[in-house]
Amino acid sequence: MRHVALPEIATFDAWRDAARGLLGADVPPEDVLWSRGEGEGDLFAEPLPPVQGAPLSVPRGFVDLARMVVWHRDPERFARLYALLWALRRTPRLMDDRGDARIARLSGMAKEVSRGKHKMTAFVRFREIDQPGANRRRFAAWFEPSHYILEPTAPFFTKRFGDMDWSIFTPDLSAHFNGGDLRLAPAVPRPEFGEDATEDLWRTYFRNIFNPARVKIKAMQAEMPKKYWHNLPEAELIPEMIATAHARARAMAEAAPSIPPLRAEAITERLSEARKVAPPVADRDRLTVELQNCRRCPLWENATQAVPGEGPDDARLMIVGEQPGDHEDLAGRPFVGPAGQMFDRVAARVGLDRSEAYVTNAVKHFKFAPRGKRRIHQAPNRGEVQQCRWWLDHERRLLKPDLILAMGASAAESLTGDRRDLMRRRGRVETAEDGTPVLLTVHPSYLLRLPVAERPVAEALFEADLQKAVALLAAA
Ligand code: URA
Repeated sequence: MRHVALPEIATFDAWRDAARGLLGADVPPEDVLWSRGEGEGDLFAEPLPPVQGAPLSVPRGFVDLARMVVWHRDPERFARLYALLWALRRTPRLMDDRGDARIARLSGMAKEVSRGKHKMTAFVRFREIDQPGANRRRFAAWFEPSHYILEPTAPFFTKRFGDMDWSIFTPDLSAHFNGGDLRLAPAVPRPEFGEDATEDLWRTYFRNIFNPARVKIKAMQAEMPKKYWHNLPEAELIPEMIATAHARARAMAEAAPSIPPLRAEAITERLSEARKVAPPVADRDRLTVELQNCRRCPLWENATQAVPGEGPDDARLMIVGEQPGDHEDLAGRPFVGPAGQMFDRVAARVGLDRSEAYVTNAVKHFKFAPRGKRRIHQAPNRGEVQQCRWWLDHERRLLKPDLILAMGASAAESLTGDRRDLMRRRGRVETAEDGTPVLLTVHPSYLLRLPVAERPVAEALFEADLQKAVALLAAA
Protein backbone atom coordinates (compact mmCIF):
# COMPACT_ATOMS: atom_id res chain seq x y z
CA MET A 1 0.00 0.00 0.00
CA ARG A 2 1.27 3.49 -0.84
CA HIS A 3 0.21 6.44 1.25
CA VAL A 4 0.24 9.78 -0.52
CA ALA A 5 -0.16 12.74 1.83
CA LEU A 6 -0.76 15.76 -0.36
CA PRO A 7 0.14 19.26 0.85
CA GLU A 8 -2.60 21.76 1.74
CA ILE A 9 -1.05 24.28 -0.64
CA ALA A 10 -0.41 23.54 -4.34
CA THR A 11 -2.50 20.41 -3.91
CA PHE A 12 -3.36 20.02 -7.58
CA ASP A 13 0.28 20.01 -8.76
CA ALA A 14 1.19 17.55 -6.03
CA TRP A 15 -1.70 15.24 -6.90
CA ARG A 16 -0.77 15.38 -10.58
CA ASP A 17 2.89 14.55 -9.92
CA ALA A 18 1.98 11.73 -7.57
CA ALA A 19 -0.59 10.32 -10.01
CA ARG A 20 1.96 10.41 -12.83
CA GLY A 21 4.52 8.56 -10.74
CA LEU A 22 2.03 5.94 -9.62
CA LEU A 23 0.68 5.39 -13.10
CA GLY A 24 4.21 5.15 -14.49
CA ALA A 25 4.96 2.46 -11.89
CA ASP A 26 1.73 0.60 -12.67
CA VAL A 27 0.33 1.02 -9.16
CA PRO A 28 -3.39 0.18 -9.26
CA PRO A 29 -5.89 2.51 -7.54
CA GLU A 30 -6.71 -0.02 -4.83
CA ASP A 31 -3.07 0.06 -3.66
CA VAL A 32 -3.05 3.80 -2.97
CA LEU A 33 -4.23 5.66 0.09
CA TRP A 34 -4.60 9.40 -0.44
CA SER A 35 -4.86 12.16 2.14
CA ARG A 36 -4.49 15.91 2.38
CA GLY A 37 -2.27 17.49 5.03
CA GLU A 38 0.50 15.90 7.02
CA GLY A 39 -1.62 13.37 8.91
CA GLU A 40 -0.09 10.39 10.63
CA GLY A 41 1.27 8.72 7.53
CA ASP A 42 1.34 4.97 7.20
CA LEU A 43 4.19 3.12 8.86
CA PHE A 44 4.06 0.33 6.32
CA ALA A 45 3.67 2.53 3.29
CA GLU A 46 6.11 2.12 0.41
CA PRO A 47 7.83 5.25 -0.84
CA LEU A 48 6.23 7.05 -3.76
CA PRO A 49 7.66 6.19 -7.18
CA PRO A 50 9.43 9.14 -8.82
CA VAL A 51 7.86 10.73 -11.92
CA GLN A 52 9.56 9.11 -14.89
CA GLY A 53 9.59 9.07 -18.66
CA ALA A 54 7.69 11.11 -21.19
CA PRO A 55 4.89 13.33 -19.88
CA LEU A 56 1.63 11.51 -19.67
CA SER A 57 -0.91 12.45 -22.28
CA VAL A 58 -4.43 12.73 -20.88
CA PRO A 59 -7.53 14.29 -22.40
CA ARG A 60 -7.94 17.96 -21.67
CA GLY A 61 -11.41 17.22 -20.29
CA PHE A 62 -9.85 15.09 -17.56
CA VAL A 63 -7.33 17.76 -16.61
CA ASP A 64 -10.09 20.38 -16.39
CA LEU A 65 -12.13 18.03 -14.24
CA ALA A 66 -9.20 17.21 -11.94
CA ARG A 67 -8.34 20.90 -11.54
CA MET A 68 -11.75 21.41 -9.97
CA VAL A 69 -12.33 18.14 -8.15
CA VAL A 70 -9.10 18.26 -6.10
CA TRP A 71 -10.61 21.14 -4.09
CA HIS A 72 -13.75 19.19 -3.13
CA ARG A 73 -14.26 18.15 0.49
CA ASP A 74 -15.04 14.54 -0.36
CA PRO A 75 -12.15 12.57 1.24
CA GLU A 76 -12.35 10.14 -1.70
CA ARG A 77 -11.75 12.78 -4.36
CA PHE A 78 -8.08 12.01 -5.02
CA ALA A 79 -8.77 8.28 -5.19
CA ARG A 80 -11.74 8.79 -7.51
CA LEU A 81 -9.62 10.90 -9.86
CA TYR A 82 -6.81 8.40 -9.85
CA ALA A 83 -9.24 5.55 -10.55
CA LEU A 84 -10.57 7.45 -13.56
CA LEU A 85 -7.06 8.22 -14.76
CA TRP A 86 -6.22 4.54 -14.44
CA ALA A 87 -9.32 3.62 -16.47
CA LEU A 88 -8.47 6.23 -19.12
CA ARG A 89 -5.23 4.45 -19.83
CA ARG A 90 -7.20 1.46 -21.10
CA THR A 91 -10.09 3.42 -22.59
CA PRO A 92 -8.72 6.74 -23.83
CA ARG A 93 -12.12 7.90 -25.11
CA LEU A 94 -13.83 7.29 -21.79
CA MET A 95 -14.23 11.02 -21.16
CA ASP A 96 -16.72 11.12 -24.06
CA ASP A 97 -18.94 8.54 -22.38
CA ARG A 98 -21.62 10.67 -20.76
CA GLY A 99 -23.24 7.58 -19.23
CA ASP A 100 -20.17 6.62 -17.17
CA ALA A 101 -21.10 6.81 -13.48
CA ARG A 102 -17.56 7.74 -12.35
CA ILE A 103 -17.45 10.70 -14.72
CA ALA A 104 -20.97 11.77 -13.75
CA ARG A 105 -20.01 11.73 -10.07
CA LEU A 106 -16.80 13.67 -10.62
CA SER A 107 -18.57 16.18 -12.87
CA GLY A 108 -21.12 16.74 -10.12
CA MET A 109 -18.28 17.35 -7.66
CA ALA A 110 -16.60 19.75 -10.09
CA LYS A 111 -19.85 21.66 -10.35
CA GLU A 112 -20.13 21.91 -6.58
CA VAL A 113 -16.61 23.30 -6.40
CA SER A 114 -17.37 25.76 -9.16
CA ARG A 115 -20.53 26.87 -7.37
CA GLY A 116 -18.56 27.25 -4.13
CA LYS A 117 -15.98 29.42 -5.91
CA HIS A 118 -18.72 31.57 -7.33
CA LYS A 119 -20.32 31.99 -3.90
CA MET A 120 -16.96 32.91 -2.44
CA THR A 121 -16.45 35.69 -4.98
CA ALA A 122 -19.89 37.02 -4.01
CA PHE A 123 -19.85 36.60 -0.23
CA VAL A 124 -16.38 37.52 1.03
CA ARG A 125 -16.88 40.70 3.07
CA PHE A 126 -13.70 42.65 3.74
CA ARG A 127 -13.27 44.90 6.76
CA GLU A 128 -10.76 47.68 6.77
CA ILE A 129 -7.87 47.21 9.17
CA ASP A 130 -6.14 50.28 10.53
CA GLN A 131 -2.54 50.48 9.35
CA PRO A 132 -1.09 53.79 10.53
CA GLY A 133 1.48 55.11 8.09
CA ALA A 134 0.92 52.45 5.43
CA ASN A 135 0.65 53.62 1.85
CA ARG A 136 -1.89 50.97 0.84
CA ARG A 137 -5.20 50.35 2.56
CA ARG A 138 -5.44 47.00 4.27
CA PHE A 139 -8.51 44.75 4.51
CA ALA A 140 -9.23 41.37 6.00
CA ALA A 141 -12.07 38.88 5.76
CA TRP A 142 -13.13 35.65 7.41
CA PHE A 143 -14.89 33.17 5.14
CA GLU A 144 -16.10 29.61 5.61
CA PRO A 145 -16.05 27.98 2.18
CA SER A 146 -17.98 24.84 1.34
CA HIS A 147 -14.86 23.28 -0.25
CA TYR A 148 -11.08 23.87 -0.19
CA ILE A 149 -11.45 26.71 -2.66
CA LEU A 150 -9.33 29.50 -1.23
CA GLU A 151 -6.31 28.62 -3.37
CA PRO A 152 -8.11 28.44 -6.74
CA THR A 153 -10.28 31.48 -5.97
CA ALA A 154 -7.58 33.77 -4.54
CA PRO A 155 -6.43 34.92 -8.04
CA PHE A 156 -9.90 36.36 -8.58
CA PHE A 157 -9.40 38.63 -5.56
CA THR A 158 -5.89 39.65 -6.62
CA LYS A 159 -7.35 40.99 -9.85
CA ARG A 160 -10.49 42.49 -8.36
CA PHE A 161 -8.72 44.08 -5.38
CA GLY A 162 -5.23 44.49 -6.79
CA ASP A 163 -4.86 48.04 -5.48
CA MET A 164 -5.17 47.18 -1.80
CA ASP A 165 -3.55 44.76 0.64
CA TRP A 166 -5.79 42.08 2.04
CA SER A 167 -5.96 38.78 3.86
CA ILE A 168 -8.66 36.17 3.62
CA PHE A 169 -8.78 33.72 6.52
CA THR A 170 -10.66 30.44 6.28
CA PRO A 171 -10.75 27.42 8.59
CA ASP A 172 -8.53 25.58 6.04
CA LEU A 173 -5.97 28.09 4.82
CA SER A 174 -5.22 31.82 4.69
CA ALA A 175 -4.33 34.02 1.72
CA HIS A 176 -2.35 37.23 2.07
CA PHE A 177 -1.96 39.82 -0.66
CA ASN A 178 0.71 42.39 0.14
CA GLY A 179 2.16 44.92 -2.28
CA GLY A 180 0.98 42.85 -5.23
CA ASP A 181 2.24 39.43 -4.02
CA LEU A 182 -0.10 36.63 -3.12
CA ARG A 183 0.99 34.16 -0.44
CA LEU A 184 -0.92 31.19 0.89
CA ALA A 185 -0.36 30.13 4.47
CA PRO A 186 -1.76 27.58 6.93
CA ALA A 187 -5.00 28.31 8.75
CA VAL A 188 -5.02 30.37 11.93
CA PRO A 189 -7.78 30.67 14.55
CA ARG A 190 -10.45 33.10 13.47
CA PRO A 191 -9.06 36.63 14.06
CA GLU A 192 -11.14 39.37 15.71
CA PHE A 193 -11.52 42.28 13.32
CA GLY A 194 -14.01 44.50 15.14
CA GLU A 195 -16.70 46.50 13.38
CA ASP A 196 -15.78 48.90 10.65
CA ALA A 197 -17.57 51.34 8.40
CA THR A 198 -17.62 48.87 5.48
CA GLU A 199 -20.19 46.80 7.33
CA ASP A 200 -22.58 49.73 7.49
CA LEU A 201 -21.99 50.26 3.81
CA TRP A 202 -23.03 46.69 3.06
CA ARG A 203 -26.15 47.06 5.16
CA THR A 204 -27.10 50.32 3.45
CA TYR A 205 -26.46 48.79 0.04
CA PHE A 206 -28.58 45.75 0.83
CA ARG A 207 -31.42 47.85 2.24
CA ASN A 208 -31.41 49.85 -0.98
CA ILE A 209 -31.36 46.99 -3.44
CA PHE A 210 -34.00 44.98 -1.56
CA ASN A 211 -37.24 45.28 -3.48
CA PRO A 212 -40.15 44.25 -1.24
CA ALA A 213 -42.44 43.84 -4.27
CA ARG A 214 -40.17 41.18 -5.77
CA VAL A 215 -39.21 39.16 -2.76
CA LYS A 216 -38.89 35.46 -3.62
CA ILE A 217 -37.65 33.77 -0.48
CA LYS A 218 -36.70 30.45 -2.10
CA ALA A 219 -34.78 32.11 -4.93
CA MET A 220 -33.08 34.40 -2.44
CA GLN A 221 -31.97 31.53 -0.24
CA ALA A 222 -30.72 29.62 -3.27
CA GLU A 223 -28.65 32.62 -4.31
CA MET A 224 -27.52 33.49 -0.77
CA PRO A 225 -27.63 30.17 1.16
CA LYS A 226 -28.20 30.42 4.89
CA LYS A 227 -24.87 28.79 5.72
CA TYR A 228 -23.14 32.00 4.57
CA TRP A 229 -25.36 34.38 6.52
CA HIS A 230 -23.46 34.46 9.78
CA ASN A 231 -20.49 36.08 8.07
CA LEU A 232 -22.51 38.57 6.02
CA PRO A 233 -23.13 41.88 7.80
CA GLU A 234 -26.24 42.54 5.74
CA ALA A 235 -27.81 39.15 6.53
CA GLU A 236 -29.06 40.33 9.92
CA LEU A 237 -31.49 42.58 8.02
CA ILE A 238 -33.06 39.75 6.06
CA PRO A 239 -35.68 38.49 8.56
CA GLU A 240 -36.99 42.00 9.19
CA MET A 241 -36.94 42.90 5.47
CA ILE A 242 -38.92 39.78 4.62
CA ALA A 243 -41.37 40.27 7.49
CA THR A 244 -42.17 43.82 6.39
CA ALA A 245 -41.98 43.19 2.62
CA HIS A 246 -45.70 42.71 2.16
CA ALA A 247 -46.67 45.95 3.89
CA ARG A 248 -43.93 47.89 2.12
CA ALA A 249 -44.94 46.51 -1.29
CA ARG A 250 -48.56 47.52 -0.61
CA ALA A 251 -47.45 51.00 0.39
CA MET A 252 -45.41 51.25 -2.80
CA ALA A 253 -48.38 50.19 -4.92
CA GLU A 254 -50.65 52.70 -3.24
CA ALA A 255 -48.19 55.56 -3.49
CA ALA A 256 -48.50 57.97 -6.42
CA PRO A 257 -46.09 57.17 -9.26
CA SER A 258 -42.89 59.08 -8.99
CA ILE A 259 -41.45 60.86 -12.00
CA PRO A 260 -37.92 59.81 -12.94
CA PRO A 261 -35.40 62.59 -12.67
CA LEU A 262 -34.75 64.32 -15.95
CA ARG A 263 -31.28 62.86 -16.23
CA ALA A 264 -32.45 59.26 -15.65
CA GLU A 265 -32.59 58.33 -19.29
CA ALA A 266 -29.10 59.60 -19.99
CA ILE A 267 -27.77 57.76 -16.94
CA THR A 268 -29.40 54.49 -18.02
CA GLU A 269 -27.95 54.92 -21.46
CA ARG A 270 -24.49 55.57 -20.06
CA LEU A 271 -24.73 52.55 -17.79
CA SER A 272 -25.61 50.22 -20.63
CA GLU A 273 -22.74 51.70 -22.64
CA ALA A 274 -20.46 51.07 -19.67
CA ARG A 275 -21.55 47.45 -19.58
CA LYS A 276 -20.64 47.11 -23.21
CA VAL A 277 -17.14 48.41 -22.60
CA ALA A 278 -16.57 46.32 -19.49
CA PRO A 279 -12.87 45.51 -19.04
CA PRO A 280 -11.52 42.63 -21.12
CA VAL A 281 -11.17 39.22 -19.53
CA ALA A 282 -7.61 37.99 -19.65
CA ASP A 283 -7.91 34.22 -19.26
CA ARG A 284 -10.39 31.38 -19.43
CA ASP A 285 -10.64 30.79 -15.68
CA ARG A 286 -11.56 34.39 -15.15
CA LEU A 287 -13.98 34.27 -18.06
CA THR A 288 -15.76 31.30 -16.49
CA VAL A 289 -16.04 33.04 -13.13
CA GLU A 290 -17.14 36.37 -14.61
CA LEU A 291 -19.67 34.65 -16.83
CA GLN A 292 -21.61 33.51 -13.78
CA ASN A 293 -22.03 37.17 -12.81
CA CYS A 294 -23.31 38.16 -16.24
CA ARG A 295 -26.27 40.53 -16.11
CA ARG A 296 -25.98 41.85 -19.67
CA CYS A 297 -29.51 40.71 -20.47
CA PRO A 298 -32.35 39.33 -18.32
CA LEU A 299 -31.87 35.66 -19.26
CA TRP A 300 -29.70 34.98 -16.17
CA GLU A 301 -32.69 35.47 -13.90
CA ASN A 302 -34.46 32.22 -14.72
CA ALA A 303 -31.58 30.04 -15.88
CA THR A 304 -29.87 27.69 -13.42
CA GLN A 305 -26.44 28.94 -14.41
CA ALA A 306 -24.46 30.36 -17.32
CA VAL A 307 -22.99 27.56 -19.41
CA PRO A 308 -19.36 28.26 -20.37
CA GLY A 309 -17.62 26.81 -23.39
CA GLU A 310 -15.45 23.75 -22.94
CA GLY A 311 -12.50 22.24 -24.72
CA PRO A 312 -8.73 22.50 -24.92
CA ASP A 313 -6.99 25.89 -24.89
CA ASP A 314 -5.22 25.03 -28.11
CA ALA A 315 -8.33 23.87 -29.97
CA ARG A 316 -8.09 24.63 -33.69
CA LEU A 317 -11.81 24.31 -34.17
CA MET A 318 -14.42 26.32 -32.29
CA ILE A 319 -17.96 24.99 -32.51
CA VAL A 320 -20.73 27.46 -31.72
CA GLY A 321 -24.35 26.48 -31.07
CA GLU A 322 -27.31 28.64 -30.16
CA GLN A 323 -27.84 28.46 -26.39
CA PRO A 324 -27.85 25.78 -23.67
CA GLY A 325 -30.94 23.62 -23.60
CA ASP A 326 -32.68 22.08 -20.60
CA HIS A 327 -29.97 19.42 -20.04
CA GLU A 328 -27.11 21.83 -20.52
CA ASP A 329 -28.65 24.36 -18.14
CA LEU A 330 -28.73 21.74 -15.40
CA ALA A 331 -25.37 20.14 -16.20
CA GLY A 332 -23.50 23.44 -16.76
CA ARG A 333 -21.87 21.99 -19.91
CA PRO A 334 -22.66 22.62 -23.56
CA PHE A 335 -24.23 20.07 -25.89
CA VAL A 336 -24.78 17.23 -23.44
CA GLY A 337 -28.46 16.73 -24.34
CA PRO A 338 -30.16 15.28 -27.45
CA ALA A 339 -28.75 17.91 -29.86
CA GLY A 340 -25.24 17.16 -28.58
CA GLN A 341 -25.77 13.44 -29.05
CA MET A 342 -26.98 13.99 -32.60
CA PHE A 343 -23.91 16.12 -33.26
CA ASP A 344 -21.59 13.48 -31.79
CA ARG A 345 -23.11 10.76 -33.95
CA VAL A 346 -22.62 12.64 -37.20
CA ALA A 347 -19.22 14.01 -36.18
CA ALA A 348 -17.98 10.48 -35.46
CA ARG A 349 -18.82 9.49 -39.04
CA VAL A 350 -16.46 12.12 -40.48
CA GLY A 351 -13.72 11.65 -37.90
CA LEU A 352 -14.36 14.96 -36.15
CA ASP A 353 -13.21 14.56 -32.57
CA ARG A 354 -15.27 16.88 -30.40
CA SER A 355 -12.90 16.55 -27.46
CA GLU A 356 -10.27 18.34 -29.54
CA ALA A 357 -12.61 21.24 -30.32
CA TYR A 358 -13.78 24.13 -28.16
CA VAL A 359 -17.56 23.90 -27.92
CA THR A 360 -19.65 26.88 -26.90
CA ASN A 361 -22.85 28.79 -27.59
CA ALA A 362 -23.85 32.19 -28.97
CA VAL A 363 -25.97 32.77 -25.85
CA LYS A 364 -24.82 31.44 -22.49
CA HIS A 365 -28.09 31.22 -20.53
CA PHE A 366 -31.04 28.91 -21.24
CA LYS A 367 -34.11 30.78 -22.45
CA PHE A 368 -37.36 28.94 -21.93
CA ALA A 369 -41.06 29.26 -21.23
CA PRO A 370 -42.45 27.10 -18.41
CA ARG A 371 -45.21 24.72 -19.42
CA GLY A 372 -46.39 22.63 -16.50
CA LYS A 373 -43.29 20.91 -15.19
CA ARG A 374 -41.46 21.31 -18.50
CA ARG A 375 -39.27 24.13 -19.69
CA ILE A 376 -39.83 24.79 -23.36
CA HIS A 377 -36.90 26.15 -25.34
CA GLN A 378 -37.33 29.67 -26.74
CA ALA A 379 -35.00 31.05 -29.38
CA PRO A 380 -32.96 34.01 -28.10
CA ASN A 381 -33.92 37.35 -29.62
CA ARG A 382 -31.61 39.67 -31.47
CA GLY A 383 -30.83 41.80 -28.42
CA GLU A 384 -29.88 38.76 -26.35
CA VAL A 385 -27.60 37.45 -29.10
CA GLN A 386 -26.02 40.90 -29.38
CA GLN A 387 -25.42 41.25 -25.62
CA CYS A 388 -23.91 37.78 -25.39
CA ARG A 389 -21.63 38.42 -28.32
CA TRP A 390 -19.35 40.13 -25.84
CA TRP A 391 -18.53 36.69 -24.36
CA LEU A 392 -18.22 34.95 -27.70
CA ASP A 393 -15.80 37.62 -28.94
CA HIS A 394 -13.73 37.09 -25.81
CA GLU A 395 -13.69 33.34 -26.30
CA ARG A 396 -12.57 33.79 -29.88
CA ARG A 397 -9.80 36.16 -28.83
CA LEU A 398 -8.56 33.79 -26.13
CA LEU A 399 -8.79 30.64 -28.26
CA LYS A 400 -7.71 32.02 -31.65
CA PRO A 401 -9.18 29.05 -33.55
CA ASP A 402 -8.23 28.31 -37.16
CA LEU A 403 -11.86 27.68 -38.01
CA ILE A 404 -15.26 28.31 -36.44
CA LEU A 405 -18.23 26.07 -37.14
CA ALA A 406 -21.42 28.11 -36.63
CA MET A 407 -24.41 25.84 -36.11
CA GLY A 408 -27.75 27.57 -36.57
CA ALA A 409 -28.96 31.09 -37.23
CA SER A 410 -28.07 32.62 -33.84
CA ALA A 411 -24.46 31.46 -34.06
CA ALA A 412 -24.22 32.61 -37.67
CA GLU A 413 -25.62 36.04 -36.80
CA SER A 414 -23.44 36.49 -33.75
CA LEU A 415 -20.26 35.57 -35.61
CA THR A 416 -20.80 37.18 -39.00
CA GLY A 417 -23.20 39.98 -38.07
CA ASP A 418 -25.38 38.84 -40.98
CA ARG A 419 -28.98 37.72 -40.33
CA ARG A 420 -29.85 36.58 -43.83
CA ASP A 421 -31.43 33.19 -44.49
CA LEU A 422 -29.10 30.50 -43.18
CA MET A 423 -30.46 27.84 -45.52
CA ARG A 424 -29.07 29.75 -48.49
CA ARG A 425 -25.70 30.27 -46.84
CA ARG A 426 -25.05 26.91 -45.20
CA GLY A 427 -21.91 25.13 -46.33
CA ARG A 428 -20.28 28.48 -47.10
CA VAL A 429 -17.23 29.90 -45.38
CA GLU A 430 -17.76 33.50 -44.25
CA THR A 431 -15.64 35.50 -41.83
CA ALA A 432 -15.91 36.83 -38.30
CA GLU A 433 -15.06 40.47 -37.54
CA ASP A 434 -11.38 39.60 -37.02
CA GLY A 435 -11.17 37.55 -40.23
CA THR A 436 -11.46 34.08 -38.65
CA PRO A 437 -13.15 31.78 -41.20
CA VAL A 438 -16.66 30.77 -40.16
CA LEU A 439 -18.22 27.70 -41.77
CA LEU A 440 -22.00 27.89 -41.58
CA THR A 441 -24.29 24.94 -41.03
CA VAL A 442 -27.65 24.10 -39.51
CA HIS A 443 -28.18 23.40 -35.85
CA PRO A 444 -28.33 19.68 -34.93
CA SER A 445 -31.68 20.21 -33.18
CA TYR A 446 -33.10 21.27 -36.56
CA LEU A 447 -32.45 17.67 -37.69
CA LEU A 448 -34.22 16.34 -34.61
CA ARG A 449 -37.31 18.43 -35.33
CA LEU A 450 -37.69 17.25 -38.94
CA PRO A 451 -40.25 14.56 -39.86
CA VAL A 452 -38.51 11.19 -39.84
CA ALA A 453 -38.79 10.81 -43.63
CA GLU A 454 -36.83 14.01 -44.24
CA ARG A 455 -34.04 13.27 -41.79
CA PRO A 456 -31.71 11.09 -43.88
CA VAL A 457 -31.19 13.77 -46.54
CA ALA A 458 -30.85 16.55 -44.00
CA GLU A 459 -28.41 14.47 -41.98
CA ALA A 460 -26.35 13.73 -45.08
CA LEU A 461 -26.09 17.46 -45.80
CA PHE A 462 -25.09 18.15 -42.21
CA GLU A 463 -22.49 15.39 -42.46
CA ALA A 464 -21.13 16.99 -45.63
CA ASP A 465 -20.76 20.31 -43.76
CA LEU A 466 -18.86 18.62 -40.93
CA GLN A 467 -16.71 16.81 -43.48
CA LYS A 468 -15.89 20.19 -44.98
CA ALA A 469 -14.83 21.45 -41.54
CA VAL A 470 -12.45 18.49 -41.22
CA ALA A 471 -11.04 19.15 -44.70
CA LEU A 472 -10.58 22.88 -44.05
CA LEU A 473 -8.71 22.16 -40.84
CA ALA A 474 -6.47 19.65 -42.58
CA ALA A 475 -5.65 22.23 -45.24
CA ALA A 476 -5.14 25.15 -42.82
N1 URA B 1 -28.29 23.50 -28.26
C1 URA B 1 -27.31 24.41 -28.35
O1 URA B 1 -27.27 25.27 -29.22
N2 URA B 1 -26.35 24.37 -27.44
C2 URA B 1 -26.31 23.47 -26.48
O2 URA B 1 -25.38 23.52 -25.68
C3 URA B 1 -27.35 22.51 -26.45
C4 URA B 1 -28.33 22.55 -27.33
